[in-house]
Amino acid sequence: MSANGAHPQLALELRDVEFAYPDGVPALRGVTLEVRAGEKVALIGANGAGKSTLLMQLNGILRGRGKIRVLGRVLSDATVREIRALVGLLFANPDDQLFSPTVLDDVAFGPLHMGLPKPEVQRRVAEALAQVGMSGFESRLPHHLSMGQKKRIAIATVLAMGTPILALDEPTASLSPGARYELIALLQSLPQTMLVSTHDLGALPGVFGRVVVLDEGRIVADGATEAILADHDLLHAHGLDEAHGLPHA
Ligand SMILES: Nc1ncnc2c1ncn2[C@@H]1O[C@H](COP(=O)(O)OP(=O)(O)OP(=O)(O)O)[C@@H](O)[C@H]1O
Ligand SMILES: [Mg+2]
Repeated sequence: MSANGAHPQLALELRDVEFAYPDGVPALRGVTLEVRAGEKVALIGANGAGKSTLLMQLNGILRGRGKIRVLGRVLSDATVREIRALVGLLFANPDDQLFSPTVLDDVAFGPLHMGLPKPEVQRRVAEALAQVGMSGFESRLPHHLSMGQKKRIAIATVLAMGTPILALDEPTASLSPGARYELIALLQSLPQTMLVSTHDLGALPGVFGRVVVLDEGRIVADGATEAILADHDLLHAHGLDEAHGLPHA
């Protein structure tokens, strides 16, 4: 630990993070979590567990109580801009991410606003679109794409930022099997630190060494992926298996 209390090797540190929405709904009830630089951590939990709320704390889109450090910097009004250049956030709903008249404008937006030179912006846009299998869609209208195509463009907008940390909210949702497989391979290959929410438990073992389970705004388990996935009682207790309701053949 350094003199100011930060662990330099930690990418993310959350201490007792609490958050309630303006209508009073408590969504995070004291979350303490550390993610080391280079680690890939999955965040799982039933609908309403608080996954999206947690991810939106990381770059200050939602601000609650408690302390958040990103690569050693404490998140505050003074650092939020700097921290947004460190944490790329993928919203669960791509309609929250895409707002430009063309795909090219959307993917170029982040790098342009980071003040990068035009050739570097073009290089990043081309690379990010290739990474999500969407090369050739540059002049299309984002709002006229299919849900899975929008999702892939939204992922490209985050990748084009080149942030050292990726906070991805359900990146495989609404992807077809081939696109899902390619995205999983991409996440495997990327060197960034990742905190990724997902309902896609089948994608966990290939990408994530560690899984954090949320329930009603609290972390109820945090461990190695194989151990969490093998703990059927745990998954069952937190609404994460299919033992309920499926009709027997
Ligand atoms: N804008 C909002 N206003 C009020 N309450 C909200 C809002 N967004 C989420 N909530 C509530 O906060 C809690 C956590 O929701 P959150 O969206 O973080 O869950 P989640 O784990 O991402 O769920 P899902 O798997 O459905 O995406 C839930 O009780 C939810 O109803
Ligand atoms: Mg969510």
